[in-house]
Amino acid sequence: MPTVQVRLPAQPKNYEIKIGRGVLSKLGREARAVLGPDARRIALISNSTVFGLYGKQALQSLKAADFKSTHWLMPEGEQHKSLRSWQQALEFLSKKELERGDAVVSLGGGVVGDVAGFAAASYLRGIAFIQAPTTLLAQIDASVGGKTGVNLSAGKNLAGAFHQPHLVLIDTQTLRTLPRREITAGWCEAVKQGAVGGRKLFNQTRRLLSKIGADFSLWLDQEKSQGEVCATIAAHCSFKAAIVAGDERENIKRTDARSRRILNFGHTTAHALERLTDYRRFRHGEAVGYGMLVAAELSKNIGMLAPGELESLRDAVRLCGPLPPAGDLATDSIIQAMSYDKKSVGGVTKWILLERIGRPVIIDGKEIDKPTLRTSLRAGLSGSVKVS
Ligand SMILES: NC(=O)c1ccc[n+]([C@@H]2O[C@H](COP(=O)([O-])OP(=O)(O)OC[C@H]3O[C@@H](n4cnc5c(N)ncnc54)[C@H](O)[C@@H]3O)[C@@H](O)[C@H]2O)c1
Ligand SMILES: [Zn+2]
Repeated sequence: MPTVQVRLPAQPKNYEIKIGRGVLSKLGREARAVLGPDARRIALISNSTVFGLYGKQALQSLKAADFKSTHWLMPEGEQHKSLRSWQQALEFLSKKELERGDAVVSLGGGVVGDVAGFAAASYLRGIAFIQAPTTLLAQIDASVGGKTGVNLSAGKNLAGAFHQPHLVLIDTQTLRTLPRREITAGWCEAVKQGAVGGRKLFNQTRRLLSKIGADFSLWLDQEKSQGEVCATIAAHCSFKAAIVAGDERENIKRTDARSRRILNFGHTTAHALERLTDYRRFRHGEAVGYGMLVAAELSKNIGMLAPGELESLRDAVRLCGPLPPAGDLATDSIIQAMSYDKKSVGGVTKWILLERIGRPVIIDGKEIDKPTLRTSLRAGLSGSVKVS
């Protein structure tokens, strides 16, 4: 089973990310191996969609490893990544009498993972947490790095904690049931990681994307596809784990090419697009697809990025799948929405730009003039992608 070791200087223990086809059936055994013989109870947190598909398998596996398991299903959707869900999860853990040596397992996408992780981080001041991510985005990104949390009415992810899991178990077979748009969104974040991570990761991702074709689940059914997809997911987890190891808590003073903030490539525009459309039009990853194109246009327009590099990025985003239209959104409204970004420091937006694929640079928004920003927005948001 492809395994990525995560070593964090500030943490007492390393942990592993294990990736493979059908590994959910080994959840109990793997959990027992990391939790030890004394752990008795496991609270599985999921939602009804994912639990309906994979819950039985997960519970059976936990039972076979002698865990007493219970489950709590949170309501579906980003709007439920809330303090209310977090509170309900905590109440559930205490009602089921979980103790310090017990654990929370999350089975689902990033929403479930973030809420379950925050509950595990705060219940009894922190109990063990295992992630079984079931979306592409959660498998390559959200489940790695230890960020957990919920949204507040003022914005996304404003309350939370860093809480590293004991184990991340990635079953690539779960991607077979993932809706098309979620797959596109996940691939966009993968392209982002390649664009800032290095040419090797970028090319590996693009090569895989060019082979998949229209139906990911059909493609996944082929024996050799599974090997490739596992290897690519593992490469993404390794990349993210390496960035996290060097900057576990996202030091806002850092502006170098290995700081955690480079993972926000494409996110300045993405957050503005999401905000402007009330989080209804785009899946987050889809907005990142556009955001990367805008950042790359900007990089080219200030003379930093070669046109050929921009074209490679465009090509990679196109291969992710169709994106909802964005060309109708007013440029000035987008610029205004950018100023609310919580990733800004001292009220100034920070842009992650590219010198080339794999070489990100963090630039102060003050250094970018409005006309260049407008031109880049218009070019990035129109035309060059397939529109759904
Ligand atoms: N903690 C982090 O570091 C981090 C990083 C990136 C994103 N996030 C967070 O992740 C969230 C987005 O996560 P997401 O993109 O996974 O979306 P999501 O969790 O909302 O899941 C998307 C949809 O897919 C469904 N689903 C999940 N797995 C499925 C499967 N295998 N088959 C069929 N349907 C399935 C879900 O029920 C949901 O409707 C955001 O809240 C974001 O802030 C966190
Ligand atoms: Zn993102």
